[in-house]
Amino acid sequence: MNINVVATTPFSDQKPGTSGLRKQVRVFQQPHYLENFVQAVFNTQTALKGGTLVLGGDGRYFNREAIRIILRMAAAHGVAKVIVGRGGILSTPAVSCLIRRYQTQGGLILSASHNPGGPQGDFGIKFNTPNGGPAPEKVTNAIHKATLTLTEYRIADIHPVNIDHLGNSTLGAMDIEVVDPVQDYAALMQTLFDFDRIGTLFTGTAFRMRFDAMYAVTGPYGRRILVEMLGARSDTVMRGDPLANFGGQHPDPNLVYAQDLVEAMYHRDGPDFGAASDGDGDRNMILGRGFFVTPSDSLAILAANAHHVPGYRDGIAGIARSMPTSQAADRVAAHLGIECFETPTGWKFFGNLLDAGRVTLCGEESFGTGSDHVREKDGLWAVLFWLNLLAVRQDSVENIVRSHWRQFGRNYYTRHDFEEVDAERAETLMRRLRDRLSALPGKRLGDHTVSLADDFAYEDPIDGTISQGQGVRILFEGGSRLVFRLSGTGTAGATLRLYVERYEPDPQRHALETQSALAPLIAIAHEVAGIEEHTGREAPTVIT
Ligand code: G6P
Ligand code: ZN
Repeated sequence: MNINVVATTPFSDQKPGTSGLRKQVRVFQQPHYLENFVQAVFNTQTALKGGTLVLGGDGRYFNREAIRIILRMAAAHGVAKVIVGRGGILSTPAVSCLIRRYQTQGGLILSASHNPGGPQGDFGIKFNTPNGGPAPEKVTNAIHKATLTLTEYRIADIHPVNIDHLGNSTLGAMDIEVVDPVQDYAALMQTLFDFDRIGTLFTGTAFRMRFDAMYAVTGPYGRRILVEMLGARSDTVMRGDPLANFGGQHPDPNLVYAQDLVEAMYHRDGPDFGAASDGDGDRNMILGRGFFVTPSDSLAILAANAHHVPGYRDGIAGIARSMPTSQAADRVAAHLGIECFETPTGWKFFGNLLDAGRVTLCGEESFGTGSDHVREKDGLWAVLFWLNLLAVRQDSVENIVRSHWRQFGRNYYTRHDFEEVDAERAETLMRRLRDRLSALPGKRLGDHTVSLADDFAYEDPIDGTISQGQGVRILFEGGSRLVFRLSGTGTAGATLRLYVERYEPDPQRHALETQSALAPLIAIAHEVAGIEEHTGREAPTVIT
């Protein structure tokens, strides 16, 4: 095997964001761009030499090319073995599962998650560490630093094996094992959930479900697990064939982008249960007939009902949620007498807590839910958890949520996104807001009194790492809250996110329409941050 040593010069923009290096496809198509980043991973993650790497992606445009390049670079670097999903396909949670199951030295995930794909869309690459989770900041910082001084990369001068057939082959001295993308993941799900009981729900009752795979990676997972293993009707999975451009849509499971699913679910004779997952299979959206479950409520409800599910029957150690996620889960943790952690946005912040056994369930408002079974959020896992719950409780999604509210109170919650705002203006908005924070406590805004206002900082309780500047929060007496932050995952301009929450203990007031229940707080948010003045926008581009 010949190894080419290719001279290169650094790119200045290879700093991984909230979830890996995510850029427009045309950025990745620049000569040496992907190669430089991969070389920086190999240079810093020394255990990969002689070790095993898991490799796969969500099948988006450029996935196959990237896999070919990475296989050749891995061979040149002396990686002993690469486990790759057939056709280059692996969902993000499946990569995490494989890293853990085969105790590999890490994995590379090729995805830009819920961002659109295709030649005009986005691509991404993310390194996951041997615990199966996204690399923590100290690792991504080291990789970024290495990208800034690269002078060469190494790539094997051979054209690799066919990745469309299961089995083993070699590339130079490196072994390649092409695996079924679903098998190990499905086996893990069987250890957590009561497949017999869920199967009976599908085959022994009139229960119907619709799962929207959004032409992304979970199509094959949904078909195998829901239809083949659990016996759901074959029309359960919609948009189930992964396409390189996701059918030209945003593979983002929310009320805006999963419109056909939402329409079906709001039909009088619609299915009993609806769910969707994103590009790489780590997000989830949960719907009942005519009913949307916010991700924040979903986390709280799964936690409160975990004892119904075999994998969590003995109780959960603790719960973690990202700061902007509603405080509904905190009330469940208090009720169960377990710890609850508030972390910055980004799944990687849950890793240490999960590794240390301090938390079992985690969730984020951005449609992410998961547990200690892997180190990524996991879309289908959340769907199966809900199915298990529905099978045990023999009740509708809506009734389960409403009875949860009656017991714990309701956290009305919404997120307003102002997308593709001028980056400098968005920074100015945040700066001005930060400057005002110290003057806010005790002040009355509308009908609310500020109890705390700060720029969220987090000290990791396990390794002491401090992360500052994680979002402005304004807390009000009585549990209502406003949060402002700039997205860390966008690729064009800036996205301002406004998160609004109001706690309502009174069951007589649990049936209000969310946006009107939150309207006074939304008005306060616009006023206090000068949203229109700074962004030029009166209204958000997306509401979830
Ligand atoms: C990705 C991460 C999530 C995070 C989300 C937030 O999906 O995996 O952990 O919550 O991005 O993105 P944002 O655009 O709000 O920074
Ligand atoms: Zn994702």
